[in-house]
Amino acid sequence: MRLDWPGIIDHYREFLPVLPHTRPVTLYEGGTPLVPLDRIPGLIGAKIVLYAKIEGQNPTGSFKDRGMTLAVTKAQERGAKALICASTGNTSASAAAYGARAGLKVYVVVPEGKIARGKMAQAVMHQSVVIQIKGLFDEALQVVRDISETHPVALVNSVNPDRLEGQKTVAFEICDVLGQGPHFHFLPVGNAGNITASWMGYREYKMAGKLRDLPRMVGVQAEGAAPIVRGHVIEKPETVASAIRIGNPASWQGAVKAASESKGEIIALSDEKILDAYRMLAKEEGIFCEPASAASLAGVIEYARNGHFSSGEIVVCTLTGHGLKDPETALSTPHSQISVPPGKEAVLRVLGFS
Ligand code: F0G
Repeated sequence: MRLDWPGIIDHYREFLPVLPHTRPVTLYEGGTPLVPLDRIPGLIGAKIVLYAKIEGQNPTGSFKDRGMTLAVTKAQERGAKALICASTGNTSASAAAYGARAGLKVYVVVPEGKIARGKMAQAVMHQSVVIQIKGLFDEALQVVRDISETHPVALVNSVNPDRLEGQKTVAFEICDVLGQGPHFHFLPVGNAGNITASWMGYREYKMAGKLRDLPRMVGVQAEGAAPIVRGHVIEKPETVASAIRIGNPASWQGAVKAASESKGEIIALSDEKILDAYRMLAKEEGIFCEPASAASLAGVIEYARNGHFSSGEIVVCTLTGHGLKDPETALSTPHSQISVPPGKEAVLRVLGFS
């Protein structure tokens, strides 16, 4: 993290719902790199200028920290003693960390057996109370919404408007770095908070005179968990991209609005295409994101294949979370791991030198 970077609340104070005396609960989130992807455009036959916004470089390894710093700051300001959230893993990791930072109790409700191991390790390590339900994320979200309405626990899912306010700062950073808006912004869609917040950020920057042209927003769902694309709730969502295994997104309307207002769209792609993009980023660009994150690049590849880009267009994809969060999926990638006896000779043989 840059030495002069104070975290998103202090950096973008004038755009956020905070008071002059608000003291941020921060882990110095945001200020993530916008990395040019130099090799991929050539490989996919697109004459575009492609960037990845590496949100996995946030303190807990995902974009959730942008919204969480604000949600926890505000919850503390209002006197909350405990936080609660439902999660596919990243929100809970972030809530657990920021709750610990603020000295608050944290309860996380997650679908049993469906959370990537690294994310579970984070919730455990920060000493949140992990409640696994034998059900889906969507059911977990309903439970925590109900409880927070009647009990003194602050809900920090993205149905809390402070979360979206914080998350919108990703759009500010992209514009600040590029000196303009991208032509397209691709991102994965699960509960749909991030696309809603990113679009809000672009619109606010335009209104503030800091951006001339708005990007087209393209949200990517996994085929087995694509309620917005199908136009109905998916009862049993299924995808390898566990972070976006969601059948009834809370910000459904926000995502539809972002897509239609920006002349973009929400598309669904197969797990195979998402995993191809996941592996391409790691192999060709040295960037290790989690599977759900790669849905954004899978969208770019799909657009390139269908000839949807014009030459020279600037395209940004959000890589929402770090690859280390999900070691199982990473290790299921075909790779060479060769076991040899100790000593130089055997290694040289593998290298082809003897
Ligand atoms: N990518 C990652 C890595 C995520 O963790 C999520 C959502 C998304 C994309 C989709 O973002 O929900 O704003 O559309 N994760 C939530 C969680 C649901 O509980 O961590 P969204």
